[in-house]
Amino acid sequence: MTVASTSSTDMSPAARNLGDTLRRALEHDGDARVLRLTRMGSSVRFVIEGDDTTLTLLLDRTPPVVTSGHEPAEITFSVPRDLEAELALGRLPMAPALIAGEVTGSGPIRQYLEIDPILQSLLRDVAGHEGEHVRRPARPALSSPDRDLLAIETRDVHKRFGRQRVLTGMDLAIPEGVISVILGPSGTGKSVLLQHIIGLMRPDRGEVRVRGRSLTTMSRSELLRLRREVGVMFQDGALFSGLNIFDNVAFPLREHTNLGEREVEHIVMTRLREVGLESARERLPAQLSGGMKKRAGLARALVLDPGIVLCDEPDSGLDPVRTALLGDLLVEQHANGGGTMIVVTHNITLAKRIADHISVLWQGGILQSGIASQIFQSEDPFVEQFLAGETVGPLTME
Ligand SMILES: Nc1ncnc2c1ncn2[C@@H]1O[C@H](COP(=O)(O)OP(=O)(O)OP(=O)(O)O)[C@@H](O)[C@H]1O
Ligand SMILES: [Mg+2]
Repeated sequence: MTVASTSSTDMSPAARNLGDTLRRALEHDGDARVLRLTRMGSSVRFVIEGDDTTLTLLLDRTPPVVTSGHEPAEITFSVPRDLEAELALGRLPMAPALIAGEVTGSGPIRQYLEIDPILQSLLRDVAGHEGEHVRRPARPALSSPDRDLLAIETRDVHKRFGRQRVLTGMDLAIPEGVISVILGPSGTGKSVLLQHIIGLMRPDRGEVRVRGRSLTTMSRSELLRLRREVGVMFQDGALFSGLNIFDNVAFPLREHTNLGEREVEHIVMTRLREVGLESARERLPAQLSGGMKKRAGLARALVLDPGIVLCDEPDSGLDPVRTALLGDLLVEQHANGGGTMIVVTHNITLAKRIADHISVLWQGGILQSGIASQIFQSEDPFVEQFLAGETVGPLTME
């Protein structure tokens, strides 16, 4: 895309407003999120549609700065004018906008999508929360993301155990940079699907791709590298019963990195603080409540700063209030850390609370997928029945 350079005096008031908001957001001295943006070492150019206005966000500076378009940019976005105010208020999640084709881009979009939640949360701080705790897409978007923007993709995946067919041609498409919920009744193959995504199970037929790379053709060392990139919070917590909480969370760091014990301690305690388990560091898993185990599992899943986080039924065994609190914690972690978060659940309330994107699973395949607001308006009889929790309809115990 070619971008006309303009002086700041040509800027529309609205665009100046966006520039000011961006600048103010980056003035949070010592803010961990600003530091994280700096580490991205990239630059993003916003072009306001219908106006030759450009703004460049330079993330390779310390602190990051905003200029009026003359600096080189690696990523360029054309922001439709009517979405500009939403962006300035931190209310427009870029990934749904990208999926909808409302924003065009060039350069390493994936990297931009990773900074997007961080930028959004900084902008929201500047603009004030306005009572909105959980992010929602500003407008519905199309259901089929560009393949280049997929974090996870399965193509016609089949899996059977003996005579039982569990995955029956699974075509999953999880967009990069947002919270995706895989929603489906018990026993439909959600956990089996997750095992395929992390390479613990191999499909009988079909292909699994993570960030464009096929697992089938990966060597053992590539698979090991992938395990670093993908953090998993297992359904049953899967904490090591003989290790205390500190050592459980430290395990991936000790296994996959050469960090010294002081650095390990610093990272682990930061993660435990984030999930409210700082004072439980010496406890064994058996000495924790269900909710604490979940939070410890989340801290461990996040400890390597993975680009993709998978959470299998993070709500199972929790009461509604603790489920809501855990949902908020997931949204907060995603807002701070960026990347792609995939949450598997049959809990519709949780899905409503956290999902940007939803894939509905049924009998080993995808029944519907799309931006959350679209799925909740679905007229498909199965989706309607499942979302409403009705006993009469196509969904039965079989
Ligand atoms: N290793 C295995 N060997 C044989 N059958 C299996 C295996 N793993 C899963 N299954 C079967 O596959 C089906 C789907 O299981 P899965 O655990 O994926 O369901 P789920 O959607 O995660 O359910 P829930 O919501 O209850 O967690 C079940 O009938 C289960 O018994
Ligand atoms: Mg399961």
